[in-house]
Amino acid sequence: MRIGTRLTLVLLLCILPVLAAYTSWSVEQSNVYVNELKQSTRAVSSGVAPSVDDEVIAQEWNKIGDAFRKMDAEGTRNALLRKDGKLWYSLPDFPAELISAAQVQLAQRNSAEFGPTAGVKNWFCELVPLKSQGGEVIGYLLEVQDWTKVARDSRAQSIALLGVVASVIPLTVHRYVSRPLAELSAKVMKCSSDDSDRGAGSDVELLSEEFRRLDQQLSRARSDLEQRHRRELGLERELQRADRLATIGTLAADSRVKLGVIVRRIDRIARIVRMLLDYARKSESHKAICDLRAIADRALALLEPEAAHRNVRTLARLGEIPRLVNCDADQIEQVFVNMIMNALDAMQPGGGTLRVTAQTQRSRDGSRVMLAFEDTGAGVAPEHEDRLFAPFFTTKEPGKGTGMGLPVSQFIIREHDGEITFSSGPSGSQFVVAIPMASSEIIDHERGSREQRRE
Ligand SMILES: Nc1ncnc2c1ncn2[C@@H]1O[C@H](COP(=O)(O)OP(=O)(O)O)[C@@H](O)[C@H]1O
Ligand SMILES: [Mg+2]
Repeated sequence: MRIGTRLTLVLLLCILPVLAAYTSWSVEQSNVYVNELKQSTRAVSSGVAPSVDDEVIAQEWNKIGDAFRKMDAEGTRNALLRKDGKLWYSLPDFPAELISAAQVQLAQRNSAEFGPTAGVKNWFCELVPLKSQGGEVIGYLLEVQDWTKVARDSRAQSIALLGVVASVIPLTVHRYVSRPLAELSAKVMKCSSDDSDRGAGSDVELLSEEFRRLDQQLSRARSDLEQRHRRELGLERELQRADRLATIGTLAADSRVKLGVIVRRIDRIARIVRMLLDYARKSESHKAICDLRAIADRALALLEPEAAHRNVRTLARLGEIPRLVNCDADQIEQVFVNMIMNALDAMQPGGGTLRVTAQTQRSRDGSRVMLAFEDTGAGVAPEHEDRLFAPFFTTKEPGKGTGMGLPVSQFIIREHDGEITFSSGPSGSQFVVAIPMASSEIIDHERGSREQRRE
């Protein structure tokens, strides 16, 4: 069953009992009212009849006319009929049809009350006999009241109301429910392209079915879109990779110089990795008594061309006496190279002076060789001082600094029971590498073993 029909039925079922109750109540009310009216009419006529009696007998038609006019003004009209029913006296505008109706009533000896319908009006009539003093009927007083309004049938009213309700409800339901719903169904069916096996059923069932179809189509479309999106993403990644390769390709093809730079950087990374692996592997056995001056000289000699290239003057004041320590010469050389490279970087651009000095510091716990690298560079910014030895900390532009020079150097020097300290100001920095001096027993022992080997 269609939703509109269902709704109409439900609404009618709800409204009809209320209407029926209202109708019976209003019929009852109007009955009560009519009875009251009848009673009052009877009372009026039984009051009027005796006085009219006397005046009729005395033939005082003027008085009777006055009384009739007064009563007329109050809504009750009167006429006098002779005993045979003929009109005896009335005011001129008394409805003639009522007189004939009264005559019929008298002829048929029907009840004294009757209610004829004359034209569009409804009358309530009462015939009261007029009697002579001897009690003989001499005529009749016909008293009528216009009950057109009262007599309007409340039952008919209710039926009319019912008719209105019964036609308004379906019309409203059709206008505001069925039609919009039908339009919606049509639209939904148009949206869902799949029109196979569209079963018959109520419009609600049809709509639900269509919505289910639409939902399926939407999910299909969504998964299609997702798939396409994934494909596009993959493609984009491929493109990016191709782009990177192309960039590298362009760089490489650009010039031999750039290629050289790339190779050098890769070399340096490889060196760092190798060095880290080496330190992890190295043991005490590589240590030997060495003169730190010689190692410093070697490092300086190695970097001399680079220093000259960068306009840096190197001054080595390493003294006359050997600075002997028990160390791994390669590792210490690596530390010194690091120190010198950092100094050269700090003095860029424009260059400056790098001073390398050696000293022996004696104390109760033993003596230490102190090698200081002093430059005239930019110095260390105060906010960087705490992080200088942290792995990967660098202030150099990407590709130039690794941030591993100082941490690795510190690791090496600590392995030699030494330490690296630094001080810095606006006119440059000083990095000092301190390593315990080799004790005379070790030196003697080493000398001894070397002489044994010579023999
Ligand atoms: N002589 C120096 N003068 C000024 N700053 C220095 C000096 N030596 C090292 N530094 C600072 O310490 C940072 C870390 O140095 P390092 O560990 O050798 O890494 P990298 O040289 O790769 O930057 C440098 O980036 C620099 O900022
Ligand atoms: Mg460095």
